[in-house]
Amino acid sequence: MEEKIKLSSDLEFSRIALGMWRIHNSSREELDKVIKTALDVGITSFDHADIYGGYICEETFGNWFKDQSIDRSQIQLISKCGIKLLTDNKPEHRVKHYDTSEAHIIKSAEESLGKLETEYLDLLLIHRPDPIMNPEEMASAFEKLKASGKVKHFGVSNFTHDQLDLLQQACDMPLVTNQIEISLFHNEPLFDGTLDNLLKRNIKPMAWSPLGGAENIKKLLAKPEVTNMADKYEIDAGGLLLSWLLEHPAGIVPVFGSMNPERIKQAPKALALEWDRQDWFILLEAARGKRVA
Ligand SMILES: NC(=O)c1ccc[n+]([C@@H]2O[C@H](COP(=O)([O-])OP(=O)(O)OC[C@H]3O[C@@H](n4cnc5c(N)ncnc54)[C@H](OP(=O)(O)O)[C@@H]3O)[C@@H](O)[C@H]2O)c1
Repeated sequence: MEEKIKLSSDLEFSRIALGMWRIHNSSREELDKVIKTALDVGITSFDHADIYGGYICEETFGNWFKDQSIDRSQIQLISKCGIKLLTDNKPEHRVKHYDTSEAHIIKSAEESLGKLETEYLDLLLIHRPDPIMNPEEMASAFEKLKASGKVKHFGVSNFTHDQLDLLQQACDMPLVTNQIEISLFHNEPLFDGTLDNLLKRNIKPMAWSPLGGAENIKKLLAKPEVTNMADKYEIDAGGLLLSWLLEHPAGIVPVFGSMNPERIKQAPKALALEWDRQDWFILLEAARGKRVA
């Protein structure tokens, strides 16, 4: 499998992206090791959101990034906006809510640029569908951010097909992804038409929480048929689960959330794994606890 994937003609990500929502728990040295390990193994796409770490993860990354001599064009920075959290550093928020107004999208993206110490975002996502979102207003924010060169591409996260259609109809530029929860343990999108629909539209999905949770992983690994499979393919649990997703023809980009350099180093092994189809289904059955119909 190729190490890169095109989300549009001029947007290329590493086949596996790295999620940044836990970097506020890492020291600067740990973060340095995590990101440099990722870059060494070809993971160049980094998934942020304004709210991660209670609005501090972007700044944690930016404080590190500004001291590096990394060529900006060789990495891809993704961020998200639209959720307003209740946290001590946002006393003006009286309730957790969504804000997809034109003013907020522009302000949030500009703040992300400042915190990440970058001139532009490769991709900005609307984090969650907002029950009172106005597609025309959102499209207008996208146009202004694109025209100013602050954001190159736009997409959504956790949207239904209809919500995606609604926003796409208002936008001149293509929405390049829908970042949704998909894993062996959260496999409904493989069966409920979500991935079929994205495949039909040629929109590459990004998968958040692609391993599906530490407890699930532990339970799965306790099953001999799965332990044997990891041994057979000479891959660790993370690699096996990432590879299980990569097998889907929709071109899923898993957003791997590990902060463990050893696991990050192993992850790209997932690209080389060639599945025996029956093994893929054995994993599915082990996770679902039942056979396919
Ligand atoms: N769009 C959205 O709404 C949304 C929502 C949630 C998350 N996200 C994005 O998705 C990214 C990834 O989410 P995630 O962190 O839940 O993804 P994940 O890759 O499914 O999970 C990573 C977690 O699993 C642990 N882990 C890895 N291998 C393990 C093993 N063999 N046994 C036990 N635990 C293991 C990791 O611990 P170690 O660090 O020790 O390896 C880490 O805590 C986030 O960083 C964020 O960027 C987006």
